Amino acid sequence: MQSIISVQALTKAYASGHQALKGIDLDIRRGEIFALLGPNGAGKTTLISIICGIVNPSSGVVLADGHDIVRDYRAARSKIGLVPQELSTDSFETVWATVNFSRGLFGKPANPALVEKLLRELSLWDKRDSRIMALSGGMKRRVMIAKALSHEPQILFLDEPTAGVDVELRRDMWEMVHRLRASGVTIILTTHYIEEAEQMADRIGVISQGRIILVEEKARLMAQLGKKQLSLQLQSPLAAIPEEFAQYPLELSADGQTLVYTFDAQGEQTGIAPLLRRLGDHGIDFKSLSSSESSLEDIFVSLVRQPR
Ligand SMILES: Nc1ncnc2c1ncn2[C@@H]1O[C@H](COP(=O)(O)OP(=O)(O)OP(=O)(O)O)[C@@H](O)[C@H]1O
Ligand SMILES: [Mg+2]
Repeated sequence: MQSIISVQALTKAYASGHQALKGIDLDIRRGEIFALLGPNGAGKTTLISIICGIVNPSSGVVLADGHDIVRDYRAARSKIGLVPQELSTDSFETVWATVNFSRGLFGKPANPALVEKLLRELSLWDKRDSRIMALSGGMKRRVMIAKALSHEPQILFLDEPTAGVDVELRRDMWEMVHRLRASGVTIILTTHYIEEAEQMADRIGVISQGRIILVEEKARLMAQLGKKQLSLQLQSPLAAIPEEFAQYPLELSADGQTLVYTFDAQGEQTGIAPLLRRLGDHGIDFKSLSSSESSLEDIFVSLVRQPR
């Protein structure tokens, strides 16, 4: 199946000389939710801005639904809706006029029923006659989403859609993203809330210092890199881990009360049973035990941690 977005050997050096993208290759599959993660300044917004034709690439090729974003800009852009990271919506226009105008910009005939549906879905219907400048930040963000969807794009970019958004709206947005995906829209989002990517994405891409360092199915990523931990709350505190256990991936908490055993979530054998037996043999008893699994956040942090 042909990918809906294809990025090949893309680089970007800004006029300042800063090399923001250092050779990006990336394929986005039709109909997926793709989360692009990376620390501040990694190049996420630059990449999205190039795909959306807002920033010129230095070299490389980007195809959106088969259309070259430079040579065939209009056709490519008409497929794409963008909710930018920076809101630029302070205007005297009303919500209703703004969203209808956006649709017109793409040469689409007026469709009041569609705009009404969008505004209702985004809980903006009551605000349709308000001027944009009179809306709260979260409402403005929703207007940006309505604008981005007004021309019925097949690809939707959400650059940090939930930054500064309250819990309820965030949940509404997740639902909306799932509905859009169900209707066939491909969604690419960036977020610093890793938990959001964990909940929503089919695939995860990690970008760091202008390079894609990983692209993987979310489920695979979590299974491959995920670690599990078993914590044992000890009957009596230990001063140190006994010599005999030096070979085990064990850590002792500062207060000596808890032993933490880390094991591979993928592994066939966890090694827990023999460990517990050996601990028992050495008279190390525990009151209780609990286990935990590393989150996508742990995985992400370990991936982008810079050697200093
Ligand atoms: N217009 C510009 N001129 C010069 N440098 C820029 C420009 N825009 C971005 N940069 C630089 O390019 C790099 C990547 O920025 P970009 O906005 O793409 O990062 P990001 O991954 O979106 O970060 P964030 O998570 O903070 O939004 C940064 O070092 C930034 O300073
Ligand atoms: Mg950004």
